[in-house]
Amino acid sequence: MYLEKDDERVLAGEFGETRQKMMEILVALGRVYGAERLIPITSAQVSGASYKTIGRWGLAWLQSLDARVAVPTVLNPIGMPQEGWQEFGIDEEFARHQMEVVQACRRLGIKIECTCTPYYLRITEYGEHLAWAESSAVAYANSVLGARTNREGGPSALAAAIIGKTPYYGLHIVENRRPQVVVEVEGGTSPRSDHWGAIGHIAGKKVGNRIPIFTDIRPNRDQLKALGAAMAATGAVALFHVDKITPETRVFNFPTDDLDRVTVSRDEVEALFAETEVEAVAVGCPHCSVDELRDLAELLRGKTTTKPFYIFAARGVAAANPDLVDAIERSGARVITDTCMVVSPRMDEFASIMVDSGKALAYVPGMCGALARIGTRKECVEVATS
Ligand code: F3S
Repeated sequence: MYLEKDDERVLAGEFGETRQKMMEILVALGRVYGAERLIPITSAQVSGASYKTIGRWGLAWLQSLDARVAVPTVLNPIGMPQEGWQEFGIDEEFARHQMEVVQACRRLGIKIECTCTPYYLRITEYGEHLAWAESSAVAYANSVLGARTNREGGPSALAAAIIGKTPYYGLHIVENRRPQVVVEVEGGTSPRSDHWGAIGHIAGKKVGNRIPIFTDIRPNRDQLKALGAAMAATGAVALFHVDKITPETRVFNFPTDDLDRVTVSRDEVEALFAETEVEAVAVGCPHCSVDELRDLAELLRGKTTTKPFYIFAARGVAAANPDLVDAIERSGARVITDTCMVVSPRMDEFASIMVDSGKALAYVPGMCGALARIGTRKECVEVATS
């Protein structure tokens, strides 16, 4: 792989051991995937930030690094809110280790905004090259924003953040972004059959790691977010297109006649909605947008929760909308920032959790050891307040 002179010097260790190791990661990745060169990135998002998922070895690795990121970089959700973790039910030992992770990341120059929706905090333009790690954020950046990122692992995203570059392969190359399979969604009229997280949950299993193009659907941005997050979880989708909706379908002509076709049926979607008793309700996977917080505030107006109801959002989004947070919390529901229903040990304490997310439906059983039930946002509010 071609390296510029300065990159060669980084690789030779002239700028310290950490940068050398980070360059080694990028060069190794580039060689595996046949990249010809490195390209500059405009931002990075680093996963593996919850102590629940990285444990003491991950923490030790982060603490061993000695460098600063070269581009704006944020973290994926950590295992607890940075303030109020005691009320959220986090024990002191976990909190101490989690704050050590945060401190190690801060020392690297990473902005301690811990979210899977970094696109709500910093404008990301069409065509920008990124190194983002969280799968739903990757799907959103590629598909909805038309930016370009591979589905990075935590270490490779951090390496790209510190070097400010990433190997030029995969989804950074326009030619690799063409659709590979057509997805047809059977029309439905009930809120359940139009649930985009549930549709994505089914679609992801059918398309696997191919790039799907949907035809004849018109989801809004929040629905695209839910669709992509679920497909990234049950499949390995890092980019999807929706004809006439997502930006690249308006820039490129994608012929679809010769592609495989799969259908998501209304019955398959409806079948996901089992009605079981749950101990807690959690929404905000991926983290809520302002519109989603507004919708929740409206749905919760005049109601009181009867079981724990957690609503996850980016710190910056919650801080910019204190009235919505107040309106939601008057019901007893809690808006929780910095963490999420999957990466926080708090959620491991429930035997059953209701979610409104096709991604959380896939991850909660394995990551929290809990039974997961999916519902619409309205159904989640009804269950949390009945
Ligand atoms: Fe975000 Fe956690 Fe879901 S990282 S996409 S809220 S599993």
